[in-house]
Amino acid sequence: MHIFSRTLPTLAGLALAAHPALAASEAPHIVSRAGQHALIVDGAPFLMLGAQVNNSANYPAMLPEVWPAIEKMHANTVEVPIGWEQVEPVEGQFDFSFLDALLPQARERNLRLVLLWFGTWKNTAPSYAPEWVKLDQKRFPHMINAKGETHYALSPHHRSTLEADKRAFVKLMEYLKKNDPQNTVIMVQPENETGSYGAVRDFSPVAQKLFEGPVPAPLLRQMNKKPGTWRQVFGDDADEFFHAWSIAHYTNEIAEAGKAVKPLPMLMNAALASAFGRQPASTYSSGGPVHFVIDVYKAAAPAIDLVAPDIYTRDHAAYLAYLGFYDRPDNALMVPETGNDKEFARFFFPVVGRGAIGFAPFGMDYTGYYNYPLGAKDLDDATMELFARNYRLFGPMQREWAKWAFEGKTWGVAEPTDPKAEHSQHIDMGKYKMTVTFGQWQFGTEKPTGNPEPVGGVAVAQLGENEFLVTGFRSRVYFGLSKPAPLESMMTLRVEEGHFDNGKWIFRRVWNGDSTDYGLNFTGREQVLRVKLTTYKGTPPIPVGNPN
Ligand code: DGJ
Repeated sequence: MHIFSRTLPTLAGLALAAHPALAASEAPHIVSRAGQHALIVDGAPFLMLGAQVNNSANYPAMLPEVWPAIEKMHANTVEVPIGWEQVEPVEGQFDFSFLDALLPQARERNLRLVLLWFGTWKNTAPSYAPEWVKLDQKRFPHMINAKGETHYALSPHHRSTLEADKRAFVKLMEYLKKNDPQNTVIMVQPENETGSYGAVRDFSPVAQKLFEGPVPAPLLRQMNKKPGTWRQVFGDDADEFFHAWSIAHYTNEIAEAGKAVKPLPMLMNAALASAFGRQPASTYSSGGPVHFVIDVYKAAAPAIDLVAPDIYTRDHAAYLAYLGFYDRPDNALMVPETGNDKEFARFFFPVVGRGAIGFAPFGMDYTGYYNYPLGAKDLDDATMELFARNYRLFGPMQREWAKWAFEGKTWGVAEPTDPKAEHSQHIDMGKYKMTVTFGQWQFGTEKPTGNPEPVGGVAVAQLGENEFLVTGFRSRVYFGLSKPAPLESMMTLRVEEGHFDNGKWIFRRVWNGDSTDYGLNFTGREQVLRVKLTTYKGTPPIPVGNPN
């Protein structure tokens, strides 16, 4: 099975190197070229090796229970919620004391932050709205469902709610402009998992009037449609698309106002719809940035840099499908939340292989909350170690990796659990291809059986026409030629183990003999290999278990 194949864009003249003069003043931002993306931090591409803390870890008293987990994990970025109720408990009175504690403590630890604004919507609900909002349904109306009943979610159709949320969000951005000139905060997420469960959209009179009106021109353009009402243009999808437009448009205004103060990259995260097939929108977070409505978000919310999947499925095929949906020329891939159970750690490899700007397991702290079955039952050392080893491996070369990813030259796979995959995965890299197997001994040619637990993963970057950097855990890697000409064969020239240190490759040893005859075997150790290949006219070397 071929996971995906990509042609390599030419990036002549692309200045990627860090520019110290720029770095001090330049706010983090996202650049896109030839369908690839990079998050620029301090003037150069940056890979967020992230961790998201639990929902109620956003108070100064909790930070001593957060930092040890982040340190153990070797994360370089922490995603932390900021609740509207927390910063504006009384209307018009703002309290940023949590940020007064968070920012310096993050800096001391050389960590960057992504702030999650829990405002009008947190997992679709108004749970983080201040009491003065929650208690005033007249001023801050809820949605009305199709039966005419008041729904739990706030409606996106009321300026009173939008203005109140926007004012608080702008205050947050003003705080950052004043107190974070060093850009410790590299991204902000306005709202959290928008949409509504149990009602496909707002059926209140004000919403209904808009629904019966024309589809806005930017959406018609984005989706190449002729003018008409929502129902005329989108048929059965009309209700969900209308709701998505309304929420995206609302959040866009908040993001835009925040960016006018400090132009940080902004993302919106999605509580996902099923990856395969289509269930009724009322069964998932209708109106949120699920994969069916990414185009609606693109048209309605130009101030939102990217929409991103919160991936809690343990299903290998579904996980990869979500990565495909959100990795688009107009949308940088980022996984702002994923499960923190053992089997999720290996998905880091296809995520960074696809050139994502960041990855963050959820619930990475020692505050004592575990969201099993979404994540782990307990963040014990064995579970933590599987995430920590990924970040120890990539930490020293995250800048290099982010640069190769921006050039479209990275790929990755995770151990499959589908029996049809036969414990192997294939990567097409143009001239060369790779087969990755899971659960073979290091010597010999017996069939792969899979690891006792699905923990294997591999990522590869192309450094030159015939040179690759490859790394991973619990797997065997074989290179081969994708389309060999008659009598064209491949030979391994040299395999070096080493690591990156401040942009410099530090040689450790050469792998040869048994270490390369049966493919390149990655164990639980952190090992980075540089592989030089060549081709020649002649018969191939006697194959020693190479399935290529
Ligand atoms: C997704 C949400 O975005 C998080 O805040 C959290 O509630 C998790 N789900 C579940 O733990």
